[in-house]
Amino acid sequence: MTLPAPTGVPAALGGRPVRSEPWPAYDLGDVWLSRQDEEAALEAIRQRLYFRYDYRPFDKTYTGRFEKRLKSYFGTEYALACSSGTAAITLALLGMQLPRDAKVACPAFTFAATPSAIQLAGCAPVLVECQEDLRLDLENLRQVLSAGVDAIVVVHMRGLIDDMPSICALADDLGVPVIEDAVPALGAVLNGRPAGTWGRAGGFSTQSDKSLNTGEGGFLLTNDEELFARAVVYSGAYEGRLARHFPNGRPPINDLDHPIFSMRMDEIRAALAESLMDRLPDRLAAHRRNYDHVADRLADVDGIALRRPVAPGAYLGEALVFRVPGVDAERTAWIAGALRAEGIGARALADPADRNVRVFWNWRFLVGPDARAARARYPQTATYLDEAIDIPLSANLTQADCDQLITAVNKVIPVALSAV
Ligand SMILES: Cc1ncc(COP(=O)(O)O)c(C=O)c1O
Repeated sequence: MTLPAPTGVPAALGGRPVRSEPWPAYDLGDVWLSRQDEEAALEAIRQRLYFRYDYRPFDKTYTGRFEKRLKSYFGTEYALACSSGTAAITLALLGMQLPRDAKVACPAFTFAATPSAIQLAGCAPVLVECQEDLRLDLENLRQVLSAGVDAIVVVHMRGLIDDMPSICALADDLGVPVIEDAVPALGAVLNGRPAGTWGRAGGFSTQSDKSLNTGEGGFLLTNDEELFARAVVYSGAYEGRLARHFPNGRPPINDLDHPIFSMRMDEIRAALAESLMDRLPDRLAAHRRNYDHVADRLADVDGIALRRPVAPGAYLGEALVFRVPGVDAERTAWIAGALRAEGIGARALADPADRNVRVFWNWRFLVGPDARAARARYPQTATYLDEAIDIPLSANLTQADCDQLITAVNKVIPVALSAV
């Protein structure tokens, strides 16, 4: 297959753009949906039973069936459908019964929802530096865990599974429980084990941008019976409804010991999610096909460094993140702008003109208003974020879309770097 010629004047400098159609993105209406999924949602609407805990037997509800499906797909003892990924992470932390204001570590590179969930659970986030692939820096992690934290939330950011064998071994050594924010990596697998099943619990989202898209929603996976039971109550199972999640025995806790925070999933979303699971393997294969095609062809482009997975194949492939080592945030922003001018949906994570909530110095709720001081506290992650470009890779991308991305990068990068 011959690609369009990579040379030429970038569109940002007056040349012809590589493509004219918008880059497919969930917030522009790009969805992975079949007629069967539409019918499933409509059927749930027609049944007029939208609350998950109605009179029907548990396994006749869409939510109960979705949870059963999740348990068998991921191989966990327990699954709880809930209202969002943020809710799932919060419920996992609440389920651990950490003391009030417990310190909970998380990576400095994550979506603002991770530290937000930690705060929602009544805990205090402690940030950990990331290394050049924007995964956790294990040396800094050891220091943070040794200094005393009560738990860690590991995040598989932009689809790349973190080094769970090393992180779990380290955390085990130091007696720190691990929770996974597997929101960005639903379906990705490391050493035969899915993201979100390595720690004590894993939180997932089914928001529009995720491998299972129900608009909003999420779920939690765990093998810990008590954690699960508490999470069920906190999510809003009251007046004995907890028992429905334990059909073969009594719940291990008293539901009245905990408040209820109403983080349930409804039946319409669950119907959609359950149906979408039929084609989840196809979707994962499409992400993988697109990612591998693009990453293979960009691997040798001078001047860029693709994020490396911790093991072959340990990624979802729904986003491509690469760094342009040695450039500052302004130049990275120029490159991302030049890619957008070519018709590619690129963002520089640290674009000074943007308010991207994947960069920690924009988390004023946590680090305060002085972004410069915040950057100085985590200088390594700040530098790598300054160099990073993020491009969503829809499962619906065609090979032509992927080739246009490859062409655009080859067109823009040499021009951008020749001016350095
Ligand atoms: C890393 C990460 N964690 C948590 C969330 C929150 O998920 P939700 O929007 O379903 O609450 C997101 C959302 O995209 C995310 O990217």
